[in-house]
Amino acid sequence: MNDAIAAPKGVPEYLPPESATWLAVREALSRPAVLAGYGYIELPVFEDTSLYVRGVGESTDVVSKEMYTFTDRGDRSLTLRPEGTAGVMRSVIEHHLDRGQLPVKLWYAGPFFRAERPQKGRYRQLQQLGVEAIGSDDPALDAEVVTIADQGYRSLGLTGFRTELTSLGCARCRPAYRERLTTFLSGLDLDDATRERAVLNPLRVLDDKRPEVVAQLADAPLMLDHLCSECAEHFREVRVLLEGSGTAYAINPRMVRGLDYYTRTTFEFVHDGLGAQSGIGGGGRYDGLMAELGGQELSGIGFGLGLDRTYLACLAEGLTPGPEHRLDVYVVPLGAARERAALLTAELRRAGLRTDQSFGGRGLKGAMKSADRSGAPYVVVLGERDLAAGVAQLKSMDTGDQREVPLDQMARALTEQIEETTQ
Ligand code: HAM
Repeated sequence: MNDAIAAPKGVPEYLPPESATWLAVREALSRPAVLAGYGYIELPVFEDTSLYVRGVGESTDVVSKEMYTFTDRGDRSLTLRPEGTAGVMRSVIEHHLDRGQLPVKLWYAGPFFRAERPQKGRYRQLQQLGVEAIGSDDPALDAEVVTIADQGYRSLGLTGFRTELTSLGCARCRPAYRERLTTFLSGLDLDDATRERAVLNPLRVLDDKRPEVVAQLADAPLMLDHLCSECAEHFREVRVLLEGSGTAYAINPRMVRGLDYYTRTTFEFVHDGLGAQSGIGGGGRYDGLMAELGGQELSGIGFGLGLDRTYLACLAEGLTPGPEHRLDVYVVPLGAARERAALLTAELRRAGLRTDQSFGGRGLKGAMKSADRSGAPYVVVLGERDLAAGVAQLKSMDTGDQREVPLDQMARALTEQIEETTQ
């Protein structure tokens, strides 16, 4: 026998029955975006490498250390997408969506790839559900985007998360702040690697978790205290709108995002039940990204919600959204009733009932064991004598009650019974 092959390291899989919960998480997080008029976009899983180098930023960990980059047979450098925003922007520019009604509002979901060191909640193939709204800097759009994510999490029943919010300023006010921070950092006692980071991107040093660095950063200047008047007013309006819509948040002036394109409103969703990988989602404005990628000077805002981590957050809170059973009914054919049973199975499925049946001509005992294992709350047994009488036996697995139902009325009887018990 050949050796069995395992999945690559750091790649999560969702198998039945747990995968039903995973699907329910994705469905719940997409619903508020659909209700807010976001259209679905299906994007390529690999893109030209330069899209991420230019879009996400060369100095970020994502681009400098974590990309799955390869050369294809035509000698092109391609990269498995590490995130979705740059790809959406590329598509919007390429297909001229920005020449229609603004803002362009899009949502997407699927796998992304980052060569990180795997651990619980940190994967090399991760799944995100994202939205991007392009072409308006109205603070109402910022509030809408944050609220959509908040509603998605809440609709799952999650309570153990918080929304952290800050503003990263704009191309006008950030350079002066950056200089102020650089001057401050140059006066600290830092190791060489951190000094280098401070030169490359001083803002990222604020994220250092080592106590000796944290202590020195206590008096570091913060972007929020150095916003220009437009950015300050924009941020004030976002906060007023969020408060008006009842979306709770906390200001975190030291938030550091892993991607370089962020400007102004920036946010993260943090769950306390997940240990180190506590970020269940994040996003913000990226007002210079479109121009950077060769498009018009249009602003944009969006988020990416981590589906893997949101799923783990649900488990941590004891939540298992999604249908209780995979099936509504299981059909057991006996002897010569097999052909009629196959028709009945098809009829029940056409009536919208999730239906499976026993295969392989098994006897009553074996087939009932399969019925039990399937978890279906109802079983329909069709024997030869039933067939002659034009009936089948409908059994409730919960109560054990059994009754005879005419074959041509089975779909209706089952539908009614299920409606009754779910009321
Ligand atoms: P991000 O913060 O890099 O943002 O990723 C968003 C979310 O994806 C994170 O909060 C986390 O839940 C999940 N995630 C990231 N890396 C991993 C991983 N290795 N394993 C499991 N989950 C992970 C973005 O990607 C931006 N494109 C979001 C955005 C959209 N900003 C504006 N528009």
